[in-house]
Amino acid sequence: MKFDRKFLLCALVYAVVGICVGIYMAASKNHGQLVGHAHILLVGFVLSFIYGLIHKLWVAADNRLVANVQFYLHQLSALVMGTGLLLFYGGLFQEALDPILAMSAFGVLGSALLMVYLVIRFPRSQA
Ligand code: HEM
Ligand code: HEM
Repeated sequence: MKFDRKFLLCALVYAVVGICVGIYMAASKNHGQLVGHAHILLVGFVLSFIYGLIHKLWVAADNRLVANVQFYLHQLSALVMGTGLLLFYGGLFQEALDPILAMSAFGVLGSALLMVYLVIRFPRSQA
């Protein structure tokens, strides 16, 4: 499967999960999971969707190791960040989660930097 489609499918899964958290907050009238909700949707859904679009429109790097690393690093970081934030703001494992959340943040940053590299190094030739 190409990277644009892989990112799109992951983005849609994050959209469903993030919206469920939003509905849970609205229904329970407890907005304590706002940060997890926001970052599942923004890092998971919005960034993955944008990376998918970038692959579709501007990058020709399928079958490249660096594109695989960028994809899995972003997805792993988004998963760890989203789950970690839900647990953290649920009051669970807060001390242990602190360094894990920090690592996930650097993972998100690292994958953004790799996306910059991909755009510059493997431009898609425009028709
Ligand atoms: C059915 C869908 C959704 C529901 C029921 C919902 C519900 C909520 C609730 C209850 C809050 C907390 C508000 C507050 O206490 O300030 C919130 C905040 C937020 N939501 Fe959603 N949401 C939904 C969809 C989305 C989507 C699709 C996105 C982004 C793509 C999004 C992004 C955000 C952000 C960024 C915040 C934080 C805003 C702030 O800093 O005050 N939400 N949402
Ligand atoms: C390395 C990744 C990121 C880190 C470490 C990070 C960290 C943070 C922190 C510490 C807050 C304040 C939370 C609080 O209210 O206590 C915040 C809020 C926010 N961030 Fe991020 N963020 C990251 C990525 C992003 C991205 C990629 C977006 C958008 C595309 C985003 C959008 C927001 C928004 C809208 C808020 C306000 C809603 C909220 O309070 O949760 N963040 N972020």
